[in-house]
Amino acid sequence: MKQELDKLKTQVTDELKKADTMASLTDLEVKYLGRNGLLTQHLRNIKDLPESERKNAGQSLNVLKNDLENLFTHKKAILEKKDLEESLKEEFFDITMPGTLNGKTPELGTIHVLSQLQEETENIFSQMGFTIADGPEIESEYYNFESLNVPKDHPARDMQDTFFIKEKRHDHHGRLVLRTQTSPGQVRTMEKYGAPLRVILPGRVFRNEATDARHEHTFNQIEGLLIDKDISIATLKGIMKEFLSRLFGKEVLVRFRPGYFPFVEPGLELDFSCLLCEAKGCRVCKNTGWVEFMGSGMVHEHVLRAGGIDPKEYQGWAFGFGLERLAMMRYGISDIRLFNSGDLRFIKQF
Ligand code: DAH
Repeated sequence: MKQELDKLKTQVTDELKKADTMASLTDLEVKYLGRNGLLTQHLRNIKDLPESERKNAGQSLNVLKNDLENLFTHKKAILEKKDLEESLKEEFFDITMPGTLNGKTPELGTIHVLSQLQEETENIFSQMGFTIADGPEIESEYYNFESLNVPKDHPARDMQDTFFIKEKRHDHHGRLVLRTQTSPGQVRTMEKYGAPLRVILPGRVFRNEATDARHEHTFNQIEGLLIDKDISIATLKGIMKEFLSRLFGKEVLVRFRPGYFPFVEPGLELDFSCLLCEAKGCRVCKNTGWVEFMGSGMVHEHVLRAGGIDPKEYQGWAFGFGLERLAMMRYGISDIRLFNSGDLRFIKQF
């Protein structure tokens, strides 16, 4: 038996020497160590040996099995290394090359310029203690107009051409409209959270109007609302100056002009110093050095009441500005229609 096993070992060693590919190595492994391999057969035959020989035979076979397994492992490592070296010689693989899909380099998406700007705005206002809230895009006439001090037949309703929903009315709040402004969020947040309040409401708004380079039917606004005791318009000026200066990364000046909006009294328009020409005068600021930025004012007492807040106890200010206009100013974009155009050449610049 011992001789037989020695012979087997020599045989395997010889054959292993000749094996020079992974495939031939696998064949050998099957031939000797596989389920019907020669060594396996020997192991199986142990049970037919006389009792006295079984133990010794078993031990020798196990030793041999171990030896053979080691030989195979060793040879496998050698062949693997050889394979790798060969393939490295043949095919150089540059892992720094961009990946491809069906022969094309996949295009990476980018975050839309308006989303970026909205996020920056939210971050700055959060840092100043404002919460961020949202309201529905399909709004009732009550929230979009009445609660904001714009009763039916009030001429101010014509200021904003409205899309009405034909199919459905609100149960007790009049017709349904696509909100024309983010201002309805003022009354909604007052109702929900009460005073004091510090909130911004970013959102999409809709107007039924012809589009041109400066007008879109769908655009984005950011509404702001601050309500507390003894609040004056001075804090609004400070906050807007701070917001714009942080956003643009340099000092921006702001100024108020009187304006009219039914939901504020007094109503104010806020301009900021033109950044493109450093307020020297250019096409964008129409040579005035100032850019019209937003509507604002002290919240009208009718609006506070609609939100369930007592105007004798609390005052507040509100503002609303268009995100597109801000982006146009910041990047010198001349046509508002580009934002929703889906034109990748435009989108990818940001
Ligand atoms: N909602 C107004 C608009 O769409 C903008 C606005 C003006 C919002 C004055 C305000 C405000 O909160 O106080 O034109």
